[in-house]
Amino acid sequence: MIVVTGATGNIGSRVIGALVASGIPCRAFVRDPAKAAAVLGDDVPVAVGDFADAPSIRAAVDGADAVVLSSGNDPRQVDFEANVIDATATTSRCQVVKISSVGADPDSPAAFVAWHGRSEAHLAATDLPATVLRANFYMTNLLAAADSISHGGPLAAPAGDARIAMVDPRDIAASVVTVLTSSGHHGHTYELTGPQALTYAQVADTLARVLDRSVEFVDAPEPSVRDALVASGMPEWFAEEFLSLFAELRHGIAATVTTSVQDLTGRPATDLASFIADHAAAFTPAPAASTR
Ligand SMILES: NC(=O)c1ccc[n+]([C@@H]2O[C@H](COP(=O)([O-])OP(=O)(O)OC[C@H]3O[C@@H](n4cnc5c(N)ncnc54)[C@H](OP(=O)(O)O)[C@@H]3O)[C@@H](O)[C@H]2O)c1
Repeated sequence: MIVVTGATGNIGSRVIGALVASGIPCRAFVRDPAKAAAVLGDDVPVAVGDFADAPSIRAAVDGADAVVLSSGNDPRQVDFEANVIDATATTSRCQVVKISSVGADPDSPAAFVAWHGRSEAHLAATDLPATVLRANFYMTNLLAAADSISHGGPLAAPAGDARIAMVDPRDIAASVVTVLTSSGHHGHTYELTGPQALTYAQVADTLARVLDRSVEFVDAPEPSVRDALVASGMPEWFAEEFLSLFAELRHGIAATVTTSVQDLTGRPATDLASFIADHAAAFTPAPAASTR
């Protein structure tokens, strides 16, 4: 039985979906069972708890054959992930598959990246059989601009001419399943990317081509991005770290293309055009409601 943390999230929910589709027994570690039912359906067993509540994690991972460790960006992320790693080390002592980030480095100036570097170090300091999947920038991040694009607005980001080898979260989930169901992955770190490293201008061109409409990239200055994010309800610390991450992207941390998705799953990584085609509805305005 595989325990998946962060199971209602972008990656965790796709991992649960891929495990269920493969007929692999799994359990979702969630803090809100109603949300879990809405996201995952009623048939996925859940263990209710919180990353801050170590006993609830120990109860969830006890008896597991493997733990998939995925959590959200949070100032407590390192402690949260340490709680899961330590709970596994004191109970089932099973394989841990950690979702990490491209460029993970405890000394990174970007907290979202540094926190993963620190969690990786915590995991490495145990003797648990572990596999680290360092993911590139998720293609699903583009969905944050879907509303703007669907109404003819721009793709705005402080991306400059950064090359980013964006990866489809579905490919992350498929890679997790391979790591869980085949041998030889303990002690390995895989960097998961899409098949091309594209600039945001090229991303906008791809959106325009696939959606058959004009999409302009705007290299938004940091202050205006910060203001827009905070105005949209994002906490200030998160907006600052979002900008730090984009600074690292402009320095090239996500520019390397690897073959790890194909090596692990046996099929090519999803390209951006396919991702956009599969999510075209999100980038398209909803039809006006009928007045009759
Ligand atoms: N976005 C990117 O481009 C990118 C690239 C590389 C790596 N990553 C990393 O990928 C990982 C997964 O990202 P994601 O997009 O799947 O994140 P996400 O959608 O924000 O999901 C976070 C999950 O963690 C759960 N969670 C948060 N706080 C919790 C707590 N205190 N106790 C229990 N569960 C809690 C959330 O549950 P609720 O539903 O209850 O909130 C949710 O299921 C992150 O660590 C991120 O840094 C992201």
